[in-house]
Order: sequence, then structure tokens, then C-alpha cells
Amino acid sequence: MCGIVGYVGKQKAASILIEGLKRLEYRGYDSAGIAVLQGARIDVAKKTGRVDVLAKSATRRRFTGATGIGHTRWATHGGVTDANAHPHLSSDGKFALIHNGVIENHAGMKKFLLEKGYTFASETDTEALVNLVAYHYEKEPVTDGKSRFLESVRRALMHVEGTYGIAILCTDCPGEIVAARKASPLVLGVGDQEYILASDVAALVSRTQNVVYLKDGELLHLTPANFSIITQDEEDVSPVVDRITWNIADAELGGYRCFMEKEIFEQPAALENAMRGRFAEDGSTALFGGLNLTPAELRQIGHLVFLGCGTAWHACLVAEHLIERFARVPVEVDYASEFRYRNTPLDRDTLFFVMSQSGETIDTLGALREARRKGFKVLAINNTVGSSIARESDGGIYQHVGPEIGVASTKAFTSQLLIAALVALHIARMRDMSFNDGVEYVKAVKSAPALVHRVLEQAPRIREIAKRHAHYKDMLFLGRLSLFPIALEGALKLKEISYIHAEGYPAAEMKHGPIALVSPECPAVFFAPKGEIFNKLVSSIQEIKARHGKTIVITTEGCELPPGVADELILLPDCHEAVLPIVATIPVQLLSYYIALERGCDVDKPRNLAKSVTVE
Ligand code: M6R
Repeated sequence: MCGIVGYVGKQKAASILIEGLKRLEYRGYDSAGIAVLQGARIDVAKKTGRVDVLAKSATRRRFTGATGIGHTRWATHGGVTDANAHPHLSSDGKFALIHNGVIENHAGMKKFLLEKGYTFASETDTEALVNLVAYHYEKEPVTDGKSRFLESVRRALMHVEGTYGIAILCTDCPGEIVAARKASPLVLGVGDQEYILASDVAALVSRTQNVVYLKDGELLHLTPANFSIITQDEEDVSPVVDRITWNIADAELGGYRCFMEKEIFEQPAALENAMRGRFAEDGSTALFGGLNLTPAELRQIGHLVFLGCGTAWHACLVAEHLIERFARVPVEVDYASEFRYRNTPLDRDTLFFVMSQSGETIDTLGALREARRKGFKVLAINNTVGSSIARESDGGIYQHVGPEIGVASTKAFTSQLLIAALVALHIARMRDMSFNDGVEYVKAVKSAPALVHRVLEQAPRIREIAKRHAHYKDMLFLGRLSLFPIALEGALKLKEISYIHAEGYPAAEMKHGPIALVSPECPAVFFAPKGEIFNKLVSSIQEIKARHGKTIVITTEGCELPPGVADELILLPDCHEAVLPIVATIPVQLLSYYIALERGCDVDKPRNLAKSVTVE
């Protein structure tokens, strides 16, 4: 949801900003722009379209300054136009500002500023803020040796309702940037005689691994020689410099066609990373360092609530299935966006988990805050060290799968499923699961990377199936029990990257409505793994065949299907229930990916989407 980047140092800022924007492009790609301080002037280049379009136009311009800011936009207020692209200048030209978030009270602000004679060139909420900074700069004297630039930003922000990650230049302050955040991420890279500011570490990891994560309500002041952080109430903050473990190779394609492809194929290694160091020495249970709960506290839990959005919500549904099945604890799953406003009645012995790859999804963060406000403990399953959700939760489990850059979530999802399986085991072993069952379960989880690798070997066959199905306009994804969420995930993957309309449904519910859609023009992807209800699943597939529907059946090696039931067949290796959802996800990821490729879609940057959704 918009990527922002800033640079103060000794190099030419423009090329560093553009490189940073390329790495942040997954956050939004409606338009891109940079502003560079050149002496006492701010020069701006901004264009609708991808960062490459901006890069071409910027190279024709002479950007020589060593201080600048850049932005890649996911449009909220105002259409996708050059005028609405960031950076935005104050009407006196003294300030340039980039913004990730939403200024909710921008209309009132704009009215006030128009009356004061400020002018506006865009339809954005952001332009109100840059003019408000200019207004405070002109209006109020600054005493006590304070920076007038920093102080006018601080005063302007006191009037803002909404969310922001911002960075600002001022023509009176060469070599300086003021930045601030509220509910939109900002991280400062502390390099060798330079600072790089960004929405996330992907944009700065090529220049430094030393970072400072800004917290909500903090303002950062960068000068060529130093940086300082204060709170909105003017208290000095002692910055903590963290060292990030991601490296530049994590954020590069390394020979793959796109990040989604890379992230699908690196899942065996990602799963190894997600489980590393998480097994007890006796081989019968899982261990987590960051739960911050004693075994006695965990045993006393009466209910669990899992919250997330999109793909993470599907992972929550799998967690519900595995925890109820193996640990016998009742689990509720809710969309984070619904939970935060629903005011659900909750038992006091409830423990919350939020699930979020980015750790910045505003709905999930809002739900976390709401649960904590009511006095509940909230644990996070999260992939991004230092993210807002990681910082604000009471404890949690990192996914440790490295940056996920493709907008369509793949390796983050399967690692969430793996962690859900480990959480189920951890709780189950504190309750009724026997040592021997625990040992068998651990072996199953450890086999997940190899099993996923075996499914990935079927990629060429799945690509052929994709070629035969790329022209359809509608598809159904059907599954039961722990594979119902995987059916939902298959449908979401297909619609988000190929724009084919797809529905995920519990297979047995099909006859209560969606069967009306079945026709030769609407193929059904059907999960029918080995298990107690295999025969019932086969009956459901036969109901589709009886209505001339086409089927892609995903079943277990060795399962016998009646002749003519599967138009296309994909085989899963036989596996334990705890890892079945992980293994079954791979074919639908590959199918969606190859269908999108056949249709010529931009897989990593699907239309209208952004990787982390930091607006409501
Ligand atoms: O970063 P999060 O896990 O909180 O993101 C949640 C969803 O926005 C995300 O999973 C989205 O649904 C993906 N684009 C799906 O591929």
C-alpha cells in the first residue's frame, strides 16, 4: 500500500531512490515519483505507471542532489494520474512530501488551507498535509534551538486523523529529511556515511543491514551528520539499532521468471527454515521461544481465536482444523476486519493468535489492538521481524521464510500452515496426545519439505493442464475438512493473478447451490485425498460428471478413482493429516501461476492489488 524511500548521504540520491522504489514496487504500482533537493530547489519527477517508466524519464533529467525522497503509489484518494502521483509540493514550493496511509480529515484541512490562500494541484489527501506543514512553518516562531523544519511537521501532525508514513524535504534545510509514522511502517537504514529510509527493509538491504524501526507516533530527523528521534510529545527517543538477517539475494530473482515462481519453488527450503530449532529433544513435540506463556498458562486456555485477512485467514482456518482435531481445544476463526468492529462476546480464558505475513495489515493490527484493549493476550504468527504486529503482540512465532515479494502469497502461506501444525502439536502434547503419537507427528512435519519437493516435480504436467484451462472464465475449487481452506486459497490465487472468476466451496455444500454453475464451461478443481470420506468425495465428483462438468482431481497416490471421473489428475504423496494442507496447496499454486502465465498476466503485480494492505 504505497512504498516510500528517502536518502541522505554523499551519493547522487536519484538512482538510489529508484533502486529502492523498484524493490518496493510490490507495495503499489499505480505511479512512481522522486523529489531531490538541488541546492535551494526541489526537483520532482513523477509518472503514472511502473518505476521503469519513472526511471526513463528521470535519466533524461539532471538529478545531482544527494538528498531525496521517492514513492510508489497504490491509489486511494484521487485517480491514477501524474498530478496525483507523489511527491507532492506545498503551494509555495518549499516542501515536498511522500505519504503511505490515509489522512481521514483531509477535507477539513483543505478547506482551512484554501481560506488561507494555499493552492492545490491534485485530488489527494496528502497535498493537504504538505500544505499544513508549510502553514505551520510560516506561522509559528520556533524557539529553544529547535529545528523549525521538524517542529512544523510535529505541529502539523497534531491535527491529523488517520494513518501515515511520511518523509519530507524542505528547501531551507539542505541534507535533511523529516519523517514520521502512525500505523504505516518506516525503517531507517544506518549506512556508511548515509541513511536510507524505507517502508520496509527490501529497499535498503543492498546498502546496509543495520536498521532502526520507527514506532507509531515517532518523528525522525535526518541530517548529513546524524539522526535523532522524538515522540509527538517531544520526548527524546534512544534509538535501538537492529541487524537484519535478510540479504540482497533474498530480494532478487536469481534466474526465476518472477518472484511468485521463485517463492513457489523455494518452499521446501522455506519450510525447513520455518521448522528449524522448533522440536524438543525427545522428538515428540514442538518448542517455541517467543510465546511468553508458561506451560501451565497454555494448559488453562479454554478457547483460541485466530484472526487474519486473505490468504492468512485461510491459514487460520487450517489452524482451526488441526488444533481442534489434535489438541481438542475449541477454535474460532474470524476475519480481522470483521472482528475489530463486531464486539464478539468472549470467554475470559481465550487466547488470540493473529496471522500476518507482512505484520502491517491494518485490519489485523486493528483486531490485535482491539483484543489487547479488552485485556486478552495476543500472539502473532508473522514473517516480518520488527513489524507493527510483531512489536505490539504479547509474543509469537516468526515464520522465518525471508521476504515474500510476489503479491500472491505462497511460501508465507505454507509456512503459516506448518507453524499451525506445530502449534496444534505443542498444545496437544500438553493435553491428551501420547508420546508415540507425538513422535509420529514430528516425523510427519519433518517430512513436509521432501513431500513438497515431490509435488513440485510435477510442475511440467501441471503446466500442461494449465494450458488446457487458461481460456475458461469461471472455475470451482472444492474440498472438505482441512482442504476446504485450501480450496478457498486455490480460488483466491487464481482470481488474483489470472483474473478468472473462481469460487472455493466445501465440496459437500456444492449440491446446495453452486452445482447450478456446473457446466462444460466451468471446470472444478476437486481435492479428493485418501481418508475416511474418500468415497463421499468421489460421489460429489460424480455429481459433477453427471452434469457434464470438467474435473481436475487432486488425489493421493494409490487411490483408485472410478473410470471417467477425472478429466485431469494430479497425485499427492501419501502423508499425515498434519501436513496434508501444505502438500495439497502446491498443485493449486502451480495451476494458478501457469494459467496466469498463459494469459500473459503480470503475476507479481496483479491489477488493483498491493502486497501489504495498510489502509482499511
Ligand atoms: O501480510 P498479511 O499476511 O497480513 O496479508 C494478508 C492479505 O492481504 C494477503 O494474504 C493477500 O490476501 C494476498 N495477496 C493473497 O495472496
